[in-house]
Amino acid sequence: MHEGRMHTGDAVLGQYVQAVEAIVDRELHAVDTARAIEKANRDLIPHDFQVPRELQVEDSTAPYSRNLVYADPRNRFAVVAMVWPSFRETRVHDHLNWCVVRCLQGTCIETSYAITESRMADGFAEVVTTGARMVPHGAVLGLVPPPDTNLHKMANAAHATAITLHTYGDPGTRARVFDPVSRKVEIVSLRFHNLAH
Ligand SMILES: [Fe+2]
Repeated sequence: MHEGRMHTGDAVLGQYVQAVEAIVDRELHAVDTARAIEKANRDLIPHDFQVPRELQVEDSTAPYSRNLVYADPRNRFAVVAMVWPSFRETRVHDHLNWCVVRCLQGTCIETSYAITESRMADGFAEVVTTGARMVPHGAVLGLVPPPDTNLHKMANAAHATAITLHTYGDPGTRARVFDPVSRKVEIVSLRFHNLAH
């Protein structure tokens, strides 16, 4: 049994977290971990699964809201549910770790980027768009860490609210953000809107 804190009594999410923990316990290469979690996600979460209300907390001052579902007590992974109002999007970012994303409601779009020139020590990188793909309800994406890369931007592609489930290979509280215009790179702290601060 896992010892970390579940922020819901939902049975589907409880079973999924146990499966993720069992995979992480195997200490595989990050790419194999992401692939195995992608499969567990497809196998264990039904297409019509809905995130419980307590994990749909929205902060109207945030572009999109992040709800912590589960935090591994050893900081090896975290599961996060996100609520996206119409057409909201992230900044261009990477996660420094593996990440598995599933669209549970609505339609998202993922735009991918590549670094064309960088001086990371100076906080500088030039990025270009390399592609975009629709992430419809039910789609699951497995993303591997840099340098194999997961440099991207996620957005709600429609008027209707979108909900996504993210499984990160770390506590899910930081990302490296790239500004395509100023070319500045910075590590940012990310908060959870369902937790009191
Ligand atoms: Fe991301």
